[in-house]
Amino acid sequence: MLGMQIPSDHPSLLKIVDDLAIQGWSQQTIFLPEALTLKLAAECRKRSDEGELSPASVGRGSAQQVRESVRGDHIQWLEPGESEACDQYLKFMGSLRQALNQGLFLGLEDFESHFAFYPPGAFYRKHVDRFRDDDRRIVSSVLYLNPSWQSEQGGQLRMYLNDGAVHDVQPVGGSLVIFLSSDIPHEVLPANRDRLSLTGWFRRRGEELF
Ligand code: OGA
Ligand code: MN
Repeated sequence: MLGMQIPSDHPSLLKIVDDLAIQGWSQQTIFLPEALTLKLAAECRKRSDEGELSPASVGRGSAQQVRESVRGDHIQWLEPGESEACDQYLKFMGSLRQALNQGLFLGLEDFESHFAFYPPGAFYRKHVDRFRDDDRRIVSSVLYLNPSWQSEQGGQLRMYLNDGAVHDVQPVGGSLVIFLSSDIPHEVLPANRDRLSLTGWFRRRGEELF
């Protein structure tokens, strides 16, 4: 599939749409072609090695601050045109955005995304992705970029589902998790190795309230 635009009625996109409608979240084990996942992983590692990632902050506007006791990852936002692999990824997510709009009438207008690198021991405490003063984030996505992962290495995404269940996702390369940004509290558990991912949000147009 590498190099191709996937149609918005591709079965794996329709499955995500169905899952979101029924339960508010979806997990796909192999979302992207392996070759593309490997390229994205290499790019994340390179950017990290070259010092391009910055400590992630929490909060917005004047309240924005780096707090490693809340979140310890390092991130870099994507811009279109930086590399072929990143543009391919953005194209896939564009197809998913179309599928979500066609299937769920969400009116998603854009997709923002960043690389995230969690060094060993880093975590992200339980939170929801939608800001209190900015409701533009509608659907969250996380694509994992770790070539292999054993559960004893930690680093799970722990999701607190609406029915009271707790669901752990292993951050295995190629896996994609999608969920409604305002609905599902979640956290990233510390790992004993580097943990690489691409996180993103499908957004509706709107006003920043403050
Ligand atoms: C986030 C987040 C989850 C993960 O960046 O907001 O919750 O598994 N990431 O990386
Ligand atoms: Mn989150």
